[in-house]
Amino acid sequence: MARRRMIYEGKAKILYEGPEPDTLIQYFKDDATAFNAEKHAVIEGKGVLNNRMSEFFMTGLSQIGVPNHFIRRLNMREQLVRMVEIIPLEVVVRNVAAGSMAKRLGMNEGTELPRPIIEFYLKDDALGDPMVTEEHIIAFNWASQQDIDDMIALALRVNDYMSGLMYGVGIKLVDFKIEVGRVFEGDFQRLIVADEISPDSCRLWDIQSGRKLDKDVFRHELGDLSEAYTEVARRLGVLPRNG
Ligand code: C5P
Repeated sequence: MARRRMIYEGKAKILYEGPEPDTLIQYFKDDATAFNAEKHAVIEGKGVLNNRMSEFFMTGLSQIGVPNHFIRRLNMREQLVRMVEIIPLEVVVRNVAAGSMAKRLGMNEGTELPRPIIEFYLKDDALGDPMVTEEHIIAFNWASQQDIDDMIALALRVNDYMSGLMYGVGIKLVDFKIEVGRVFEGDFQRLIVADEISPDSCRLWDIQSGRKLDKDVFRHELGDLSEAYTEVARRLGVLPRNG
């Protein structure tokens, strides 16, 4: 088999050149990192679970008209996605105070927010992904005002969809991160959801027990990460409930 051209290797995924024009193959690794890669481990099966869960969320988003890069799953660890020009920002939506916001603002983890709050972080490992404002984004040309409006609209739609889905299986969507990319269609360009949506990029709390079912299990050594992800996948019906 011909060796595929690797386009990019990140902490949890690899992108290879795709089989068709304007496509990429997204490969999900088992690597888990936290605190800007200061903490690292290989968690067997995590890539398989995230490939399946990202497929599930992206397919559901397509069904309700939220554009995203997912085309089809190829195998246990790989999916075919549309090539995008990634916007160098992480878009975080928060429903409940947790993580860096709770720390920054001295809030108790678990405080319900009066409305979803959107934050932007610059994708820059060397700087530890600093939070940036819309002023920075426009002044430094990372994206336009229209792009910002579109990113906010996409993020809120993803929040509505994911919150409802999770609530239905007894899980609170505390916060999450998405990445957004630009695609060109003739004379037009638009923004679509890219990267992945999985328990690696969300905070998910069991509503009854408060148990954490996301990457915080790894970040703060709260138990078995793959067991937590499997629980989410089972509840959503991504994996069979028994077995
Ligand atoms: O750490 P912080 O509280 O800012 O994270 C907010 C949300 O964004 C969490 O769900 C976290 O998992 C996600 N996130 C991410 N990738 C990053 C930073 C945060 O998926 N580089």
